Amino acid sequence: MFDTRISRRSAIQALGFAVAWSASPLRAAVDAVGKLPVPGFVDALIGRMTLEEKAGQLTLMASAWGGSSAANLNPPGNGQGFDAQIADAVAGKLTGVFNGQGADMAMRMQSAVMKRSRLKIPLMFAADVIHGFRTIFPIPVGEVASFEPDLARRTARAAAFEASGAGIDWTFAPMVDIARDQRWGRAMEGAGEDVLLGEVFAAARAQGFQGESLSSNDALMACAKHFAAYGAAEAGLDYNTVDISKRTLFEVYLPPFEAAFRAGAMSTMASFNEVAGIPSTANKWLMTDLLRDDWGFEGIVVSDYTGDQELIAHGIAADGRDAARLAFLAGVDMSMESDLYYLHLPALVRDGAVPEALVDRSVRRVLATKAMLGLFDDPFRRIDPKREKARSMLPAARALSREAGRKSIVMLKNEGNLLPLSKSARVAVIGPFASGQHDLIGGWCVYGSDADAVALDTGLRAAGGSITVTQGSGVEESLDGGIEAAVTAAKAADVVILSIGESQTMSGEAQSRAQIVVPPAQQALAEAVAATGKPIVVLLKNGRGLALQGAVRDAAAILVTWQLGTESGNAIADVIYGAHGPSGRLPISFPFDSGQEPYHYDHKSTGRPNPPGPLQPYKAHYRGIPNAALYPFGHGLTYGNIAYSALDLGTGKLAWSGEITISATITNTGSRPAEEVAQLYIHDVVASVTRPVRQLKAFRKVALAPGQSETVRFTLRRDSLQFIGLDMKPTVEPGEFRVWIAPSAQSDGVSGSFDLVAA
Ligand code: BGC
Repeated sequence: MFDTRISRRSAIQALGFAVAWSASPLRAAVDAVGKLPVPGFVDALIGRMTLEEKAGQLTLMASAWGGSSAANLNPPGNGQGFDAQIADAVAGKLTGVFNGQGADMAMRMQSAVMKRSRLKIPLMFAADVIHGFRTIFPIPVGEVASFEPDLARRTARAAAFEASGAGIDWTFAPMVDIARDQRWGRAMEGAGEDVLLGEVFAAARAQGFQGESLSSNDALMACAKHFAAYGAAEAGLDYNTVDISKRTLFEVYLPPFEAAFRAGAMSTMASFNEVAGIPSTANKWLMTDLLRDDWGFEGIVVSDYTGDQELIAHGIAADGRDAARLAFLAGVDMSMESDLYYLHLPALVRDGAVPEALVDRSVRRVLATKAMLGLFDDPFRRIDPKREKARSMLPAARALSREAGRKSIVMLKNEGNLLPLSKSARVAVIGPFASGQHDLIGGWCVYGSDADAVALDTGLRAAGGSITVTQGSGVEESLDGGIEAAVTAAKAADVVILSIGESQTMSGEAQSRAQIVVPPAQQALAEAVAATGKPIVVLLKNGRGLALQGAVRDAAAILVTWQLGTESGNAIADVIYGAHGPSGRLPISFPFDSGQEPYHYDHKSTGRPNPPGPLQPYKAHYRGIPNAALYPFGHGLTYGNIAYSALDLGTGKLAWSGEITISATITNTGSRPAEEVAQLYIHDVVASVTRPVRQLKAFRKVALAPGQSETVRFTLRRDSLQFIGLDMKPTVEPGEFRVWIAPSAQSDGVSGSFDLVAA
């Protein structure tokens, strides 16, 4: 059973979560795992396999019995029927299928294979269980706003509990791609723009999916994806070319993968993109030299969908056979959906183009993985239709979804303490997301259903609110008479909740946007409603950072509510009416304008930074816009009022092999309880390689009653200060480091500096 209650450990983490990854106990605890034991029988089994059967173990296909959402996400390539797919499985042409539907389907396939196939190698069932299975949790980037990795561990655990009940062994998650460009639609699937958050959430999610033991009937094998640098696509265009330095690759894009593998993730997925001219699927340096030889990863590498076949479109493979050869020799063990390995590997081996020993090595990994999942002991370990029902959408899972939902909400602004609203206020809820069960669960939900989700108006009414509902506009088109109706409703109310933003299909795979704004039809609605002069609470629905304009930007209160999952309406009502205060922080920057993207808080200074104050000529900024965010990374308000004071750096010296404790006092001077996320940032003042203006190194979430103060303490060691040096190796240089304990990447909080003293 997944943890439904907050354990002592998670309570400590929830309300006093201090994370400095390099010094974190989480990292120490996970350093040892991630190895793949190969049971003795595996080599004997490989010895009995034909080349075709070996290629079959390296071939994964979309289930022919998929649901409509699975088929929409990734249409099955060969249009094969279920019986034909079972025949393929029995003939040893498949290692398993992905995005199938339920335990009955898995039962039929596995029974056929275990009864009728020559070698009786169990199938493995994979799926995109990204942020929940049937009970849906907030979209991953939203959940990261909680700054509570243990929450992500718990939701991943709950998703694994439900999904494994339905016959699934392997999830294609967590997605650990850093997203520094909000035009990229897949920002919704990851942990945002920051490396530290990327690491701690990658580890927490991998641990959550896999649980205590991969052989348990409630564990899913995790897949850290997409390896690598998929989020660095030029111009934020999904699938686009990536051309970044090795330093950026090592400092920014690779650390979350390393963290996931250290946490035990036993698989990874080759990304669609190229880096510096080499598509990942054909990148031997990435897939073998780095991943296997340097990092010692022993799990399996799967292509992303038809990534091997796409080597032809990339222009580095002549045909399917060439593509299979390149991908396989680079180190991609398993081919998803293209069937190229099954079609070509046997002949490539017979022709001497691919050594059979390499095929055996990949098959060994796959079989050992199946053994680790417990499938050789019991092929039906996760397949039990009764268990599928018994684990589906339990009240505890829904409660967790509600908790995760409210903790993901970020309050950007709250002029005049407009929020929380009084239940006696007459509220006009206006906008395309004001009611209805659409756009609540978010993208990448293969198995979740809109019909189970709590709509905004339902949640507000259930909380005792007095509301009217007016749609006002479509998502991207205006509605006839919509604005007039909305203005009338606003005039009759004390306060307006404007529920606007992106539909769930506006972010996700292949959903890049050139303008990351509230769509013009909804902006027009906002302007008209604002003209009534009624106070406005904007509830943003979004899968990425947005550039807010006009009446949306100028509203008195703004809440970022992403797509929050099954309990969306209740989670929002919890915060709107003040049963719980907002406690989320932005894991991505909200820029002033779309044209600033890619924008990330940990940018470099340049030789011409604009000094604090007005924009100056010949300094690094756009015409009229500072080189900053409108709402920066880390920002988020509470219903309290938080003051930072009393930075204490001790002696101000960090000895080469020692530690420095840095502390500050945070006080809730307000009249309501608050949960503050104190963030520790550093800047290396002079180094042999230019360093970001700030980097998050630790954070801590603290609950403060009105009037309460608490001292937050962080400990840093030398390895927290490391970067990729001139020799391309991790290095640390002595000297001065500026340090801030602050409520966001752009706020001063309290600051000072310390010296790292050479040995
Ligand atoms: C996506 C992957 C996903 C796979 C299988 C691809 O299009 O990039 O993230 O796991 O499809 O559905």
